[in-house]
Amino acid sequence: MYNNIDLDSIDLSVAAPMQEPERQHYFIAKLRQIVREKSQELGRPLFCCTETFGCQMNARDSEKLRGILELAGYELSENPESDVVLYNTCTVRENANLKVYGRLGYLSGVKKRNPGMKIALCGCMMQEPEVVEKIKKSYRFVDLIFGTHNIFKFAELLVTALESDRMVIDLWKDTQQIVEDLPVERTYSFKSGVNIMFGCNNFCSYCIVPYVRGRERSRKPEDILREIEGLVKDGVKEIMLLGQNVNSYGKNLENPVTFAQLLQEVEKVDGLERIRFMTSHPKDLSDDLIEVMKHSQKICRHLHLPLQSGSSRILKQMNRRYTKEQYLELAGKLRREIPDLSLTTDIIVGFPGETEEDFQETLDVVRKVRYDSAFTFIYSKRTGTPAAAMENQVPEDVVKDRFARLLTLVQDISKEMSARVQGQIQPVLVESMNEQDASLVTGRLSNNLLVHFPGTEELIGQTVNVYLKECKGFYYLGEIVDEKTLHFEK
Ligand code: 5AD
Ligand code: SF4
Repeated sequence: MYNNIDLDSIDLSVAAPMQEPERQHYFIAKLRQIVREKSQELGRPLFCCTETFGCQMNARDSEKLRGILELAGYELSENPESDVVLYNTCTVRENANLKVYGRLGYLSGVKKRNPGMKIALCGCMMQEPEVVEKIKKSYRFVDLIFGTHNIFKFAELLVTALESDRMVIDLWKDTQQIVEDLPVERTYSFKSGVNIMFGCNNFCSYCIVPYVRGRERSRKPEDILREIEGLVKDGVKEIMLLGQNVNSYGKNLENPVTFAQLLQEVEKVDGLERIRFMTSHPKDLSDDLIEVMKHSQKICRHLHLPLQSGSSRILKQMNRRYTKEQYLELAGKLRREIPDLSLTTDIIVGFPGETEEDFQETLDVVRKVRYDSAFTFIYSKRTGTPAAAMENQVPEDVVKDRFARLLTLVQDISKEMSARVQGQIQPVLVESMNEQDASLVTGRLSNNLLVHFPGTEELIGQTVNVYLKECKGFYYLGEIVDEKTLHFEK
């Protein structure tokens, strides 16, 4: 995808163009020249190692960053003893930050052995001024820092860092710019994330995302469709439309388009088999979207609908803009309209001021909605968010106890819900060889559950019909059903 940029036709003897993406194409060509020269000097290829923390957005950003590195001639490696090491960081919870500091501690030793290597940091954590101050003070060996708004500039920034001995820092507070047509190195040949929008305007009071990812901006439908068509030509069967709040897609476009309308257009792309999307905010989920999902042949039977809390009082404090009752009504409607839909969620335990009664409300919603699965998080105080300044932070032992109780309930229900499709034959997109057992492959159902079944490597990337023999809690063991048998059974 877009990897057909003709670097050879770029004249490096003139100054870089000012316009994007031409400017970045120029710097990719320049980076390639540097890589070639260095590689000749060392008599070996140059390696780069990237590591991604956090969500699907970051994973997709990393594919773009890796696309740039690969096009410039670096060999992608998993070994941190590389010529370039790039960490794409996350800061949604404190743990994510701690992991990065841990890795940096380790890298300081690696860099002492390999002083020529370049260490680059980007992503959400870098958008926090305190983090950058800390790195400038305590991690002087870092060579390049950039943020979430200027990842498209990576080639230019890396060239600057390679030509300088000082720490290069380029951070933007926000941007309206969306640069198209840059290279991408996909992790999977058969599935891909596709950004449809960037940023978030919701300002949930616990969440740092609006501060580090900036204001909401949508890509134009024609750019999204062009990208998806290109991906499908390149063998992609499943796409995941990505946005912090896909339900508000298109509002800020010159010609406004709704998310439901976008989905209908995406559905028309020939050869595309599956459409997923992430994440939906309950306050913006329209009846139109439910209708489109219900009648779609391609939209997967999975909806991630973050609850965060079941207490209307806490939801208000969280600035979520829906009540327990409204959420339950929406979930009920979804269950009624699309009975085979898998509903998943995110829940935070221990938001400031959460009482046992509030927590019981959360358990009540979990019991009523019966989530197919749920991500449960312990509230993490993020500096700069309104919740961080709230009184009544809940004591750690109370939070841990609630978290354990919630997890047990969520898991018990999830096991029962997962068993719903036992005995059925369903299409499965095969994703990989099974990690534990080489005789098995692993694939995904439309509802996002994993299935392991006997098969060989050639099946990876193919959609096959699988008999769901045994539910093992959160996954299935199955058996491939060949076309002939299927016709016979019908
Ligand atoms: N503490 C705990 N969990 C959080 N999330 C976002 N911010 C925080 C925080 N400060 C969770 C929310 C969100 C998911 C991606 O991360 O549940 O939906
Ligand atoms: Fe954070 Fe809320 Fe935006 Fe999601 S919708 S990214 S939880 S502020």
